[in-house]
Amino acid sequence: MTRTKRVYLFKRFERFWHWSQAALIITLMLSGFRIHGLYDLGVDFLTALRIHTVAAWSLVVLWVFAIFWHFTTGEWKQYIPTFDKIFLIARHYAFGIFRGEEHPYHVIPTRKHNPLQRLAYLWVKLMINPIIWISGIWLLFFADWGAWPVWQQWGISLQTVAWAHTIGAYMMLIFFIVHVYLTTTGHTPLAHIKAMIVGYEHEPVHHHPRDQAAPKAVENA
Ligand code: HEM
Repeated sequence: MTRTKRVYLFKRFERFWHWSQAALIITLMLSGFRIHGLYDLGVDFLTALRIHTVAAWSLVVLWVFAIFWHFTTGEWKQYIPTFDKIFLIARHYAFGIFRGEEHPYHVIPTRKHNPLQRLAYLWVKLMINPIIWISGIWLLFFADWGAWPVWQQWGISLQTVAWAHTIGAYMMLIFFIVHVYLTTTGHTPLAHIKAMIVGYEHEPVHHHPRDQAAPKAVENA
């Protein structure tokens, strides 16, 4: 039996932000791929477009609050990239995890993402999201300024922008699949998901003098 201790990782706003963002992005992916013509799900094109636009604006509003929260609480620092132990962690996901080895990274509230998570979330925030947002806003306002001759001169046509938006959507889909898989790799398959719902994670306790100094915080899993 692994001994674990409860660690408070995800504050209330953070959990609200995470799950509403997830719901909106899932809605955007489902309606977006319908607009793209991958399937029709019994929803007509214009309805899918309307759902897509409302979900996108809702996500913009949520993001304004989330950015404000990250900067006022200092939580943005959790996303500063680091390559510390990165190979050990990649090795763990490639092999160690299938041999029941313990995760090489130990979470504490002030650094709750392992270096691979930091890089993945930063990639979403600085790469995937800007591609999707810039091309999405461009498509939305295409009739107003998206088709100006200057863009044509620069070789940016409706097709280029729609292509960038679709590439961004597939990048998000890949992130989504890998992310959901990795969230099931805690000490039980639902442990991380439960932590993102209730805020507390059960972290394994290590035989380190620092852990033994605080026996009251230790529970049995
Ligand atoms: C595409 C939609 C999603 C995006 C953009 C997203 C993004 C994120 C981000 C940025 C974090 C770090 C948040 C923080 O530490 O404050 C996170 C953590 C997490 N997400 Fe998602 N997420 C998405 C969907 C999901 C879904 C559908 C699930 C569950 C099935 C999920 C489960 C989790 C869990 C359990 C964590 C905590 C992981 C940990 O640090 O141990 N996410 N997600």
